Amino acid sequence: MKSLQISSFKEYKEKYAQSVENPEEFWSEIASQFRWHKKWDKVLDWDFSKPEIKWFEGAKLNITENCLDRHLEKLANKTAIIWEPNDPDEESRHITYRQLFVKVSHFANVLKNNGIKKGDKVCLYMPMIPELAIAMLACARIGAVHSIVFAGFSSKALASRINDSECKLLITANEVYRGKKPINLKAVCDEALKHAPSIKNVIVYRRTVEPTSMVEGRDTFWFDELQKVDKHCDAEIMDAEDLLFILYTSGSTGKPKGMVHTIGGYMVGSTYTFSNVFQYDKNDIYWCTADIGWITGHSYIIYGPLCAGATTVMFEGVPSYPDYGRFWEIVDKLKVTHFYTAPTAIRALARHPLSLVEKHDLSSLKVLGSVGEPINEEAWHWYNDNIGKTKCPIVDTWWQTETGAMMISPIAGITPTRPTFATLPLPGVQPVLIDEKGNEIPFENAPSEGRLAIKAPWPSIARTIYGNHQRYKDTYFSAFPNMYFTGDGAYRDATGNFRITGRVDDVVIVSGHNLGTAPIENAIDEHEAIVECAVVGFPHDIKGNALYAFVTTYDNIEQPEDELRQEINDLITKTVGAIAKLDKIQFVSGLPKTRSGKIMRRILRKIASNDTSNLGDISTLLNPDIVENIKKSAL
Ligand code: WTA
Repeated sequence: MKSLQISSFKEYKEKYAQSVENPEEFWSEIASQFRWHKKWDKVLDWDFSKPEIKWFEGAKLNITENCLDRHLEKLANKTAIIWEPNDPDEESRHITYRQLFVKVSHFANVLKNNGIKKGDKVCLYMPMIPELAIAMLACARIGAVHSIVFAGFSSKALASRINDSECKLLITANEVYRGKKPINLKAVCDEALKHAPSIKNVIVYRRTVEPTSMVEGRDTFWFDELQKVDKHCDAEIMDAEDLLFILYTSGSTGKPKGMVHTIGGYMVGSTYTFSNVFQYDKNDIYWCTADIGWITGHSYIIYGPLCAGATTVMFEGVPSYPDYGRFWEIVDKLKVTHFYTAPTAIRALARHPLSLVEKHDLSSLKVLGSVGEPINEEAWHWYNDNIGKTKCPIVDTWWQTETGAMMISPIAGITPTRPTFATLPLPGVQPVLIDEKGNEIPFENAPSEGRLAIKAPWPSIARTIYGNHQRYKDTYFSAFPNMYFTGDGAYRDATGNFRITGRVDDVVIVSGHNLGTAPIENAIDEHEAIVECAVVGFPHDIKGNALYAFVTTYDNIEQPEDELRQEINDLITKTVGAIAKLDKIQFVSGLPKTRSGKIMRRILRKIASNDTSNLGDISTLLNPDIVENIKKSAL
């Protein structure tokens, strides 16, 4: 939306100042540019001590009217989604705003016909095909809450997510194509549903012609369902603070957290940041390579771009198939102007011959983006030189599942960039650095480093953890009074630019995926030979971080270590998913523990990173001798 866009650095500064001094006025001006059935009674009501955050209370809307209906007047024939299949020989699909509107309304009636009502939870476990976008928007159309589970997760992970929010309906596909071989998604669902009794029906999209096993009375095909209903579906009128979706993200302890996002604030936040950060112009072709199963896909493949009337590309495949030039082939073919990806992909691609890049004409590109983890200097330059040909600003966007939208990021072409820096906070975002003692580090002390917290709410902040408000409070609002704690560390330079240094808790970002170490440890502990274990991250050239486990076994175990390693990784694949597989598994005689029995992961992290020159004070350990032993046999 052009009307939302900041057009100079001076204007950014003015808007930023307004957003801090008078947030209600600032956000109300922005929100006024969306379609509401009724405007809000109050822009913002908040209390971080509870915590309770409400934006646009009293307002009525439906987000799909903003993504679809609103565009029918001027953009009906504009392409909303370009779908690029896994196999380059299969045809792309171009879906206009009018077609998408019809498809969403039609499928919304399918949901209703399956007994889904406002407030019901629907789980989507689907490949990157337009039907995933259609299903999520159809949920939003009728006021149902979608919970999308990344289709790479195991059946156990799927079942636990379904159970946590008691989803009634599961939508999936028979198979998924990613790279060479198809994966049978439906079989994963069938396994999960043995342990997920809340699901009453399964709708299966037939992605391939392979025969699919269906359970009579429970499972039906997408196309058969469409035949039963008509194509018109009025949007359900929702409250701004009604739930839009639940999305699970890893925690440092316990099960994944179902982050709850509500409609009004999320819509305003995702669209405002999309329009500004990318400076999207009306004929641009925008491509975000994330999977919709993650927050990046929710906010910046679907909701933000569609609300802004953009053309958004959805890619089914992987960067390496049929070869490592696939991304660039697509950029060339579709004349992509905006390309948004993760540092791990950039590092993987940079390892392959430049001829794979040079074969393709990338001159359509205007803006490059990065998200998911800190981007290292080398990758930044490779991206800038070889993909952007030094002409395209790189927006290094820092944000989280919990924040719903970008928080710290350059505005393309407007904010001066600095390699490896996410630069400045976007309007409405008030970041602060906190020192070891819990005190705010004043800006005058710059350059400085500390833990990153946010002082005041922004519209797209998650409102709670589904079913566990106490955990929401403990995780985000208890470390520092009256602030949201991000779990990240950051460095701030003398001009106020932020560089995110990484997680400071037990979450590890592997290939841009946020993985909690606790569920992985639980998986390992299930092995009968294992007494206990600790999983930490260590730096890895391509993945950013990889996982390293320190494991103790029972004395009488005679199994060869490599066989045990294989079994441990198989267990992890089964319980968490292949993305959480360990790169290194070291068998040790004990783990370093504090006197209260807590594993000192700080020490293990250093050993795993091969950085043992300064392990800090280990005299407080229950078993200081063990450290030397572990060091000696480190992998
Ligand atoms: C990390 C992804 C450095 C960070 C949108 C954060 C980043 C976590 C960046 C959230 C960035 C994300 N620079 N680190 N530009 N973007 N991160 O919830 O540690 O999957 O807390 O959301 O990714 O990951 P999540």
